[in-house]
Amino acid sequence: MNNLSDTSMDKKGNSPFKIFLIGFMGSGKSHWGRIWASKIGIPFYDLDERIEEGSGIKITNIFETEGEEKFRELESYHLKKFDDNNNFLLACGGGTPCFCDNIEWMKSQGKVFYLKSKPELIVKRLFDETTHRPVIKNLSPAELLPFVQNKLVERERYYLQAHHVLNVEDLDESSLSFFIRKP
Ligand code: S3P
Repeated sequence: MNNLSDTSMDKKGNSPFKIFLIGFMGSGKSHWGRIWASKIGIPFYDLDERIEEGSGIKITNIFETEGEEKFRELESYHLKKFDDNNNFLLACGGGTPCFCDNIEWMKSQGKVFYLKSKPELIVKRLFDETTHRPVIKNLSPAELLPFVQNKLVERERYYLQAHHVLNVEDLDESSLSFFIRKP
């Protein structure tokens, strides 16, 4: 079994828990991330929140004023600031693993979990939330499902590089326990 504690040891000989959750928007990364981090007893972070706190600008505004390329730069920068942290669970943005060398970097740091969801379920979750999500903001309801289907095909080659794939329909508060080696 590929345990979380397989990651290299820190200077005190402890194995750090560095957990990265990846997956499409609306797949439940923040929801489950909070629950699992609290169950394991490690801090939870949300990368989008870190970017907003760090830049003082809302993600939608970064996309509007600076463009996606600048957002991806900031995203990668804030992700890699986790270099110094041990013991955390980070919910990444839907695009995080698909840009720069982010997926390789995450895998070199800790364990990466892909929350895999069907496009229909994603659309159900995103339906009322399009306005504050820059990537889907300008889509009509009819355009949403084909967009998500296509984007998932494009992105899965990154998502599937995760150490573990978890089906969102099977998740519960103990889903990560299986991967954690008990002392
Ligand atoms: C994005 C997903 C968002 C956020 C940004 C771009 C994407 O994060 O990073 O709007 O490209 O899929 P969530 O997946 O947390 O909504």
